[in-house]
Amino acid sequence: MSLTREGTADFSALDIPRVSISGRIVDVGPQAFRVAGLSPFVRLGDCITCPGSAGEEIGEVVRIESDSLTVKPFGIRSTLGVKSPARRIGPYTVAPCADWKGRVVNAFGQPIDGRGSLEKGEQERIADGSPPPALKRGRVGSPVQTGIRTIDIFTPLVKGQRIGIFAGSGVGKSTLMGMLSRAEGFDTAVVALVGERGREVREFLEETMAGGLDKLVTVVATGDESPMMRRLAPKTATAIAEYFRDKGENVLLIIDSVTRLAHAARDVALAAGEPPVARGYPPSVFSELPQLLERAGPGLEGSGTITGVFSVLVDGDDHNDPIADAIRGTLDGHIVLDRAIAEQGRFPAVDVLKSISRLADRAWNPQERELVTRLRAMIARFEDTRDLRLLGGYQRGSDTTLDQAVDLVPHIYDYLVQHPGNPITDKPFKDLSKKLKEAFAPPAV
Ligand SMILES: Nc1ncnc2c1ncn2[C@@H]1O[C@H](COP(=O)(O)OP(=O)(O)O)[C@@H](O)[C@H]1O
Ligand SMILES: [Mg+2]
Repeated sequence: MSLTREGTADFSALDIPRVSISGRIVDVGPQAFRVAGLSPFVRLGDCITCPGSAGEEIGEVVRIESDSLTVKPFGIRSTLGVKSPARRIGPYTVAPCADWKGRVVNAFGQPIDGRGSLEKGEQERIADGSPPPALKRGRVGSPVQTGIRTIDIFTPLVKGQRIGIFAGSGVGKSTLMGMLSRAEGFDTAVVALVGERGREVREFLEETMAGGLDKLVTVVATGDESPMMRRLAPKTATAIAEYFRDKGENVLLIIDSVTRLAHAARDVALAAGEPPVARGYPPSVFSELPQLLERAGPGLEGSGTITGVFSVLVDGDDHNDPIADAIRGTLDGHIVLDRAIAEQGRFPAVDVLKSISRLADRAWNPQERELVTRLRAMIARFEDTRDLRLLGGYQRGSDTTLDQAVDLVPHIYDYLVQHPGNPITDKPFKDLSKKLKEAFAPPAV
């Protein structure tokens, strides 16, 4: 697949209504520009379009004062001058349709995969929409098989669940999310790749997703695009997921990564004049993120569901990062990846003792729940005594539960290893018990 130059949104191809109220630019800076004459007519989140010397430029209203607006442009390089006219065009919308499956778009919903133009759906949906009213939402749905053994056994998901994947960089978040997006239980997957390098995007599409692209819509805003594009891409992806959900589909929405979205939201809020309060993040970031995540989940009673998977980069493997803290409360579980496990080559590097799915009880049957409790206890025992065993302080025979853990856990770990190219497993519990039985079967004579 060949991507056209990521980051070059084609503003002239956008459908901009031609009749609207206009004002004038009074001030142009590297981060934002100001417009006079429109203040009474706009709301935060509305877009403004202005003729620059290299074509039409679009920005979003991030602050409104009585005599002027602060507008942050979606483009990287501004060619605007003072006194140019500025028109209001309302909040940003996308109009997805079923033909979008298999395609790659930018934050504006424009195709960037070099495969021609993209059909528009009938309904324009506001990218920065609101979640369905809490009391009218359906309940989370049935269990979903992801085909990833460690998840299906230890942290099984149900349709409409929201889960975070927490890890430092290079521990395998994106790879795991790519594997998840091929799960058979979903009708459609929508993936927002935020702030990745162009190379990573190509890798994701070509390798991780090989063969699984036909039910996938990918929304890309690479690291070299403006913060406005990076902040819009997950919203656009969510609006696309909502479209398929409202058609009754079970949708998987992946945002990789929420941290890079938070960085983009921080840049925007600072340009709007907000003070930084927590490690450089202005307050609005902490309301904007949960609001977006809340849009995943079950739809209105009778429609489909959006299962949300959000990756969170924990800087220096510090799991108390303010962004991680802010979104943890919105999630129904978290999967923690551990660098030490990755270093042992055990991918996906999930730390099963630190990961939980709060809706797992709806996915396990009673026997499975009982078995997982026992497996976890055994793994905990194995990990707790790791140092002791390394130092030679362990003797077989003095503690039967520990003996059992020492025998079984390496086989369990072995079973959980899974690479993106491996076939997926649809009966993980059965396969695991078969593997454990084989490991301890008396040698054939
Ligand atoms: N399931 C896996 N099987 C084999 N290797 C993996 C797996 N997951 C991750 N890796 C290795 O880890 C590297 C980093 O993974 P990536 O998903 O890009 O991490 P992150 O998104 O957390 O930065 C990959 O290039 C790959 O070599
Ligand atoms: Mg990544």
